[in-house]
Amino acid sequence: MTTLRPRAVGTPMERLDGPAKVTGTARYAFEQPVENPLYVHPLQSTIARGRVSAVDTEDAEACPGVACVLTHHDAPRLADTGDRELAVLQSGRVAFRGQFVGAVVAKTPETARHAASLVRIAYEVEPHDVELRADRDDLYAPDSVNPSYATDSDEGDVDGAMTGAPVTVDAVYTTPMEHNNPMEPHTTVAVWQPEGDVRLLLYASTQSVHGVRTTLAPLFGLEKDQVRVVSPHVGGGFGSKGMPHAHDVLAGLCAKAVPGRAVKLALTRQQMFTLAGHRTPTIQRLRLGADADGRLSAIAHEVVERSSTVKEFAEQTATGTRMMYAAPNRRTSHRLASLDVPVPSWMRAPGECPGFFALECAMDELAVACGLDPIELRVRNDPPEDPETGRPWSGRRLVECLREGARLFGWDRRPTAPGTRREGPGGRELVGLGVASATYPYYEMPGSEAVIRYEGEGRWTVRIGAADLGTGTWTTLTQIAADALDAAPEDVTLLIGDSALPAATVAGGSAGLASWGSTVIGAARAFRERHGRDPDPGAEARSGMPKNPDRKTYARHSFGAHFAEVRVDADTGEIRVPRMLGVFSAGRIVNPRTARSQFVGGMTMGLSMALHEHAVMDPHTGHVVNGDFADYHIAAHADVCDMDATWLEEEDPHANPMGARGIGEIGIVGSPAAVVNAVFNATGIRVRDLPATPDKLL
Ligand code: MOS
Repeated sequence: MTTLRPRAVGTPMERLDGPAKVTGTARYAFEQPVENPLYVHPLQSTIARGRVSAVDTEDAEACPGVACVLTHHDAPRLADTGDRELAVLQSGRVAFRGQFVGAVVAKTPETARHAASLVRIAYEVEPHDVELRADRDDLYAPDSVNPSYATDSDEGDVDGAMTGAPVTVDAVYTTPMEHNNPMEPHTTVAVWQPEGDVRLLLYASTQSVHGVRTTLAPLFGLEKDQVRVVSPHVGGGFGSKGMPHAHDVLAGLCAKAVPGRAVKLALTRQQMFTLAGHRTPTIQRLRLGADADGRLSAIAHEVVERSSTVKEFAEQTATGTRMMYAAPNRRTSHRLASLDVPVPSWMRAPGECPGFFALECAMDELAVACGLDPIELRVRNDPPEDPETGRPWSGRRLVECLREGARLFGWDRRPTAPGTRREGPGGRELVGLGVASATYPYYEMPGSEAVIRYEGEGRWTVRIGAADLGTGTWTTLTQIAADALDAAPEDVTLLIGDSALPAATVAGGSAGLASWGSTVIGAARAFRERHGRDPDPGAEARSGMPKNPDRKTYARHSFGAHFAEVRVDADTGEIRVPRMLGVFSAGRIVNPRTARSQFVGGMTMGLSMALHEHAVMDPHTGHVVNGDFADYHIAAHADVCDMDATWLEEEDPHANPMGARGIGEIGIVGSPAAVVNAVFNATGIRVRDLPATPDKLL
């Protein structure tokens, strides 16, 4: 169904919003000019479980400049409290430490923050429990895992196959609680308008203006059209802005308390560690059974992870294992502990990211056990069709990614025996190379609409309420629209980032551009059918996303191969990563410049996950004790020297009219395993618990 004739598509067009961003004129949510705003500073619970028993706001209210102090006693009532993460200040119940228990609204942010420190809150404390362990007796199976996969899968007889297999791996891998840390914090500016069509106006930093509107309108007892969400520029999200969180509701409640006035709320970096979602910690048992030549006979991936008492989130950690390699005996499962912790949520490649750390490290262990090169092991187990559904692949070129990566990276220079290559001053640096595979599903998300209007003199306007969270949508969707309209990109004006524009699906699941692009192409086709080749100025057409006949026929996934070189200081255990390379197969690449940035960005987060990221929750208080950039480390330039991404030239004829699959998340899938596998090759030490900090290598 690839029908687009690519002209602008495929070129490395510079970001259309680049000049506005680098000159500081691109407006992010908090910077939207509103008249005479008030500022919100939230109050957060200092206990992990219990209830607010008394609140004394007198001193805070006496501060000059304070407009109001809201607690559960006096906050406006919400019309719908079904989503307990979003039922902000509707009761005195505390379900995790850091939960909103109030807010101060004041003339300046400083006043609001100071007054917040004067509010005295007493609690009835209940015992809390935040400890994830695989031997808990209250683990349960959720009905499904994110977004709607079956919780378990079971085929054949894994236990029998493991007993009979000449080579086996049986190991437990863990990943810690991790946090989305976009540069722009979560911010919402809200205005409650006493009259008019739009009653609640929000400038929000979000991956989905329509998603925020659809979710919040019923909470505030409004129709969808009475809420408008504007978000032209977003400074990153990585999933944490994919859905509204409690701060969006808090801003709305504060605005309702001061009708006609705009209120501005920006979470502090510290507040983001409890209120913006996070990646759940995981405990993953991987069992692989194989013949002596490395052919898999059994794969089992059993996951224990954390959810919250407030709202369930079940990360789909083992679902990628269901389709990655074939074996006659296969099992996957997800079990949750529902604890007194903040609500986990989407963080770049929820599921595949932690799952492939375990799977791809286990494959490395299997290669060692079989005495096989880890690339050769993967080639031998590359399934000709999707082992889960039996469908043909729309394009699985993993083996080519592995082979091309091996050639580019100099894989033949890898030491075959671990811990044998020493370089650097005094031979202190242990050098090793590692590899891991990656995949990410191509999600097709119907639900968008686009309106195309001919303005005359060859100029067009394209409207769709899509988002650009820094990924390049302003540019890439313009490229697609230009080709669809046989126009030059400079003759197309794209309008996105506003719920007043036609509906659009979330910038998430690596599916944003593919879904919106298909929709825009559908609208261009509808325009031609209605108005022909010589339209009158003012002519318009609207369309949703055209149906794809291949949707249920093919297994559609992007693939990739990650390579890493590490140097480990034999005395200190310090790891440096001089080189990383990712080779991807993701269908047609719409814009090589922005795509490379997405791949490299994902790999940087993967490096960060491998070496640093680790939120520490104190079991005695339920507090994230390292919730700031001084203590929660993320990768910096010194961690890596040469990071590159490349891809196979291709188009996927079964994905969409562009022939493109998603690229936003696959960079973080597998890259942590490549680093840790390289550490094994360098040192002979197998790190199964992320992050790979120096203490684990000594
Ligand atoms: Mo991505 S975590 O689906 O925004």
